[in-house]
Order: sequence, then C-alpha cells, then structure tokens
Amino acid sequence: MSFRSYCSTVKLLQQHRLIERLILMRLSSTKTPNSTGSLHSSQEGSDDQSGKMRGWQIHEYGGVEILQLSNNIKIPTITSPNEVCVEVHTASVNPIDVAIMGGYGSTLLNVLRCNTNIEFPLTLGRDFCGVVTRKGMSVREDIQIGDKVWGVVPPHRSGCHAEYVVVDESCISHKPETIDDIEAAGVLYAGLTAWSGLFISGHIGGVLGAVTSQGGGQGKRLCILGASGGVGSIATQIAKAENVKITATCSTDCIQMVKNLGADHVIDYTSDDVIEKFRDLSFDVVLDCAGLGLEYATKVPWKFDQYITFSSPLLRNIDSNGIGIGFFKNIVNLLESNIQSMSKYRGLSKWAYFVPAPQGIEYLTKQVERNKITPVVDSIFDFDATSDAYQRVADGHLRGKVILKIK
Ligand SMILES: NC(=O)c1ccc[n+]([C@@H]2O[C@H](COP(=O)([O-])OP(=O)(O)OC[C@H]3O[C@@H](n4cnc5c(N)ncnc54)[C@H](OP(=O)(O)O)[C@@H]3O)[C@@H](O)[C@H]2O)c1
Repeated sequence: MSFRSYCSTVKLLQQHRLIERLILMRLSSTKTPNSTGSLHSSQEGSDDQSGKMRGWQIHEYGGVEILQLSNNIKIPTITSPNEVCVEVHTASVNPIDVAIMGGYGSTLLNVLRCNTNIEFPLTLGRDFCGVVTRKGMSVREDIQIGDKVWGVVPPHRSGCHAEYVVVDESCISHKPETIDDIEAAGVLYAGLTAWSGLFISGHIGGVLGAVTSQGGGQGKRLCILGASGGVGSIATQIAKAENVKITATCSTDCIQMVKNLGADHVIDYTSDDVIEKFRDLSFDVVLDCAGLGLEYATKVPWKFDQYITFSSPLLRNIDSNGIGIGFFKNIVNLLESNIQSMSKYRGLSKWAYFVPAPQGIEYLTKQVERNKITPVVDSIFDFDATSDAYQRVADGHLRGKVILKIK
C-alpha cells in the first residue's frame, strides 16, 4: 500500500470513529421529565384545541399498503427549550421514507430514537413548510409564533407527514418569499444532501465552504450522475451558482431539463456507448445521485480525485449484522473499494449523507432567494392520497420532488 493510500485509509477510519462517537453522545444525552411531565421548557402559542391531529402512520414494516391515515394522533409536545412545533402545510416524500417504511435502517434508527420515540406507530416525512405554533423558551428571537418556516426532520425523529411536527430550532429557517409552499416543501432534505456531498464530503468550497454558508468551488470540474432526480437537480443548480464546470448524466427525456438547470455537458446514460463517453474525462468530484454506489467508480474509464456516492451500505450492513459487525463490514467495504479506485484512478471513493446543518439551510435559503435554485416539482398529491405519493416515489424515474398538500 502506497503512503497516499495509507493516509487515505487512516482518514476514512477516523470518519467512521466520528460517526460511532456521535451515536454514543446521542445515547448518553438522556432527558428526564420534570414532575409536570413537560421536560424543561415553557411553551408559547397554541395549536389545535382538541390536542389531536391527522397523520399517516405505519404499525409494521412493509409496502405502501401498510400506510394508515389516523385522525386521532396526539399533537407532538415540545420536550426541550430549543424546539418548535410547526403546523405543516406542505411536505415532500423522499426515497428514504419508502425505504424506512420497508424496514431500512431500523436497527440504528431504533438506537438513536430510544429516548424520544418508540418504534411504532411511526410517522415518516423528512422536509416540510408550515407555520410555527409553539416555541420553547430558548428558541432564537427571530423565530416567532405565526412565522412561515421551512425545515427538515432528522431520520430518527417522528416525521412531518402529519398536521404538526416538533423539531429543533436548528432544523428550520424562514421560508424564502421567492417560492410558494409547494415548491418550498421539497428543497431542504434533497438540498442538504446535495450540499453535504459537495461541500462537506467533496469540499469543493474548501474548509470555509463546509463550515459556513459561503459555498465556493469556482472552476472545479464536477460530474453529477442522475441530475434529473431530487438531489441531482439541486446539486446541478448549486454547482451552476458556484461557476463549477458541470458534466451531468440523465435519461433521454430530461437532457433539455438538465441543460436548463445549468449542466454544461449532458450524457444520456441510456445510450449504448455510455461508458465510452467518459473516456479521458477528468473530474475533481464525481457525485453519484443515481444510487449507483461505490462499484460504479471503477467501471468507467474516467479520472477523478473523489467519487462520492449517497448510496451507502451503512444502515443495511447494521440491519443485517448488528451495530458492531455492521460497522466493521462498512469499513471493509469502504477500504476494498478505495484500494481498487486508488490503484486504478488514484482517486478516493466516499459515502456522503444528508446532514441537517444550519449553515447548509442558510446556504440553500440564500440561493433560493437569489433565484439560483428553482425547485423542480415532479407531482403534487392531496394529503388523503399520500399512499399514491409514496407509490409514485417507489416507482422511481422521478423528475424532481413529490409533494403533499397537507393544509
Ligand atoms: N445518504 C443519504 O443520506 C441520502 C439522502 C438522500 C438521498 N440518498 C440517495 O441518493 C439517491 C438520489 O436520491 P433522490 O432523492 O435524488 O432520488 P430520485 O429523486 O429518485 O432521483 C434519482 C434520479 O436518478 C435517475 N437515474 C436512475 N438511474 C440512473 C443512472 N444509471 N444514471 C443516471 N441517472 C439515473 C432517475 O431517473 P430515471 O430512472 O428515469 O433515469 C431519477 O431522476 C438515491 O439513491 C437516494 O436513496 C441518500
């Protein structure tokens, strides 16, 4: 193993230790109810007087048929002084909702949710737009009852496919006025995933791009695989806004759409000679937004410094093997793939993840306000037809986001 491969290997192991440490910190930060059961926070504002709401829930893992609409769910309460309760007006359905519905990630998510929620009934939904109805005592001053906000729900928390959701204040910000509630519902989960892939894992904007909302990346060469979907369509617009040189892939029917989003060069991945079209192309970062995984990095005759995929086996390995062996298997998978890609292309392969980072939310808010990001909406469903929306996501071939109208 060369010195460079050795250093990269050590860096990857350190990243995995960091994830383990984060889980341990989460496990040790247990909150204890006070005598009134209200958990250290005073609440202001009000929501529905009945204390009940409508929401979609699952009581077991399975397909779309297990989703149930209930009229009798308790409106979630604020359990920490930094939390807000939001009346949800619109939300999006993401591929992760369909995956969690099928049991994906349940082992690790149950560990993370052990002191906040029991596993079932489970409400899904990761991003939303709505109005603040209650706030904890320590919530920042610029967030007031009645404010229109957009936000995200971390995967281990009870989701937003319901009339109300409670999240930490760091997960919301004021909704940009340049877009409507439907468009706003689908930006943040996919957008924070794209932002994290480009700026935290890909560090196209250097250190400041990862720790602040400043962005960056001018002149970098980026390849986006799957630019037509939720994550890919936002990644393409972010890269265009940062004057990055973009090669993108998609199927024939979306070539014009992907050019309109800002790609300089589009490759139709359904063409027979697609692999050959990459020959001798060279990229600072290849971003896999098409679910192709680490294996794809070594199938194509390109050159890259970093290949970043959002399709990580992390949760699946833990589901199959438990936390200890699952983590070990993840490290082995990553090392195997890096040894191959480094010996063949001298490039590094990585996994990237959705990160609910406030600086990412600030970045996306700014770019939407400047009209640099225009949300792409695939389809809109009424709340009562939420099962159909999940089916639309499960069927694939999405062109942007699937949105639910809740209020
Ligand atoms: N790690 C994380 O935290 C995280 C977070 C969010 C998403 N993800 C993953 O990231 C991926 C993208 O998510 P998403 O929400 O953007 O999904 P999506 O909306 O379903 O988009 C996927 C897009 O890729 C296209 N596509 C499929 N096969 C392709 C190929 N071989 N080459 C190029 N394009 C292809 C699809 O259209 P056609 O099939 O019609 O071409 C579709 O437009 C998914 O695998 C998702 O599970 C991971």
